[in-house]
Amino acid sequence: MGIQLIKKHLYSLGLFFFSLLLIATELSAATGSKDKKAEESSDGSRYILNCSECHGFDGNSISSEWPNIAGLNKNYMIRQLEDFKEGKRANKEMTQIVKEFPSDKELTSLAKYFSKQKVINPNTPETIKQYSLVDLTLGEEIFTGKRIEYGIPACSACHGKEGLGDKEGKFPRLVGQHIAYTIKQMKLFRSKERSNDTPAQMRNIALKMDDEDIESVAAYIAYMNIEKD
Ligand code: HEC
Ligand code: HEC
Repeated sequence: MGIQLIKKHLYSLGLFFFSLLLIATELSAATGSKDKKAEESSDGSRYILNCSECHGFDGNSISSEWPNIAGLNKNYMIRQLEDFKEGKRANKEMTQIVKEFPSDKELTSLAKYFSKQKVINPNTPETIKQYSLVDLTLGEEIFTGKRIEYGIPACSACHGKEGLGDKEGKFPRLVGQHIAYTIKQMKLFRSKERSNDTPAQMRNIALKMDDEDIESVAAYIAYMNIEKD
């Protein structure tokens, strides 16, 4: 074998190994991007059944026992889920679910999924009529800040004129929620059983409100038109 031939062989051997290396990198890049794609396409749908029995498949719950979570701000929901998990917000059902949930990443994906669903106002004049203390004029006055001399600031100041909440998810949307849930939360803030509203913004307001105030403003909110959404 002449020197030239050995050189040629070595050259093709080099090429061979070089192409092996190329294939290997390409392969690893391909699997890498596959993983990334799987991650990106994780829209929480795998675990919707963990939530849908109470909150419905599209986040519109079947019963006023459970809140509508459709179209709620993603950041707000993630914070609530964390609070349930860390025991900062107490609720037997939710605490058990988030504690046993397989992964935080999937929980975040679910929050994202539900935030993209369209909320349907579940309230009807019949459901609202179940509350005997409702005075809609009073409800409007409270919502728009005309009861400030009683220490009740305008709900609209934080939750927005139309009760749609803010973009960052600090102040949740109030419209499109079951009236029963709104009343329940106001009473939980008043009794401090719900205390994850740091720094006590809702607890301080609810303390100034009697049952008539709470039912009235909840009814006013329940009648607000979510179609402006
Ligand atoms: C067994 C019924 C049940 C199941 C299943 C359930 N939830 Fe809930 N969820 C509730 C109840 C009840 C509340 C209201 C707690 C309260 O009154 O403070 C709630 C509240 C919430 C809230 C807070 C809403 C708000 O406006 O502050 C979010 C977000 C939420 N659930 C998300 C989920 C997700 C995501 C799942 C699935 C992983 C899920 N829930 C499964 C019963 C359930
Ligand atoms: C100074 C700001 C501020 C004002 C004014 C305010 N809120 Fe809130 N509200 C908040 C914040 C912040 C939260 C979210 C707390 C949390 O992160 O858990 C909240 C949460 C709520 C919730 C719970 C929503 C849910 O999905 O669980 C209800 C109901 C509510 N507010 C009703 C009202 C009503 C009714 C008024 C007027 C009487 C009002 N708020 C005025 C700041 C405010």
